[in-house]
Amino acid sequence: MSNKNIDWSNLGFAYIATDYRYVSYFTEGKWDDGALVKDPEITMSESACVLQYNQSCFEGLKAYRWEDGRIVMFRPDLNAERMYTTAQRLEMPPFPVERFLDAMDQVVAANADWIPPYGSGATLYIRPFMYGKNAVIGVKPADEYEFRTFVTPVGPYFKGGATPVALRIPDFDRAAPRGTGNIKAGLNYAMSLHPVMEAHREGYAENLYLDPATRTKVEETGGANVIFITKDGELVTPKSDSILPSITRRSILYVAEHYLGLKVTEREVLFEEVPEFVECGLCGTAAVISPVGRIHDHGRDICFPNGMEQPGPITKKLYDTLTGIQNGSVEAPEGWIREVKI
Ligand code: PLP
Ligand code: COI
Repeated sequence: MSNKNIDWSNLGFAYIATDYRYVSYFTEGKWDDGALVKDPEITMSESACVLQYNQSCFEGLKAYRWEDGRIVMFRPDLNAERMYTTAQRLEMPPFPVERFLDAMDQVVAANADWIPPYGSGATLYIRPFMYGKNAVIGVKPADEYEFRTFVTPVGPYFKGGATPVALRIPDFDRAAPRGTGNIKAGLNYAMSLHPVMEAHREGYAENLYLDPATRTKVEETGGANVIFITKDGELVTPKSDSILPSITRRSILYVAEHYLGLKVTEREVLFEEVPEFVECGLCGTAAVISPVGRIHDHGRDICFPNGMEQPGPITKKLYDTLTGIQNGSVEAPEGWIREVKI
């Protein structure tokens, strides 16, 4: 049982420094052995590549405490693989997949007291990241890197938890065609800070970005993919080379098809067809499945008839099944759960 004095059921999505973080350095062309450390602070050159040219990437995954006391992570192998691909695109030395998994095991086990109790609604968010550390001044990749992972207990990403959120169509774009939208680079989030603050000032939880080339197709939000449900109960989700390949979305598509028997389609979604859908949700590690009640587009509101006040029935079934798998109350497909030995 967790022994920290925290009001687990009322946690939001905010950073709390926990006891240990895992650190490994890349110098002279190789990664060192890595270790758990206690210091949450980092010092580096004022001209570090990450500070000047934003050479950084990250991941997000979660650990769960099951009713029988086991501690598990959800599909960390897919985070390891995505971080590998992201690093290659940013000219960073990829952190080996097996080392990534071992690092997750170590940092979760070391912070076991911070894993929220079963049934509290909170989870342990795990944030692996990597950045170019040595000084550069010409535009070039760093030679030295730090891979670091901290953990922090979290509640719902959006205030209000299961209450449907409202999105708006922004005047900004998220990711260029053939740009970095499909990797988890820090720079994708830097560019989203102004649009998301503007959205908040206007009363919206997030922006729903359209494709920058034609502004006719739905892409995703700043921190989650999007799913729609048709009036016939089919799950439709945008296909695009410039959205992040969400692990939650990949899992939801499987759950929809194999657990709930739904028809599932990944295809281009025109913004003009959005009013025909009856439910909408955002999906991601932080967002889990957050229902969307309304999308505002320059003076026009699109409301989802089955999910305005509370999650629509299919969104709810998807949420219950996915979180059941994560919490151990629904049997998981082979290979989706990695137990952490404490
Ligand atoms: N899209 C963006 C832009 C994200 O930041 C995230 C969060 O990781 C997702 C989608 C969801 O991805 P995942 O389900 O792998 O967490
Ligand atoms: C995650 O879901 O893990 C993310 O990285 C999204 C971010 C907006 C918190």
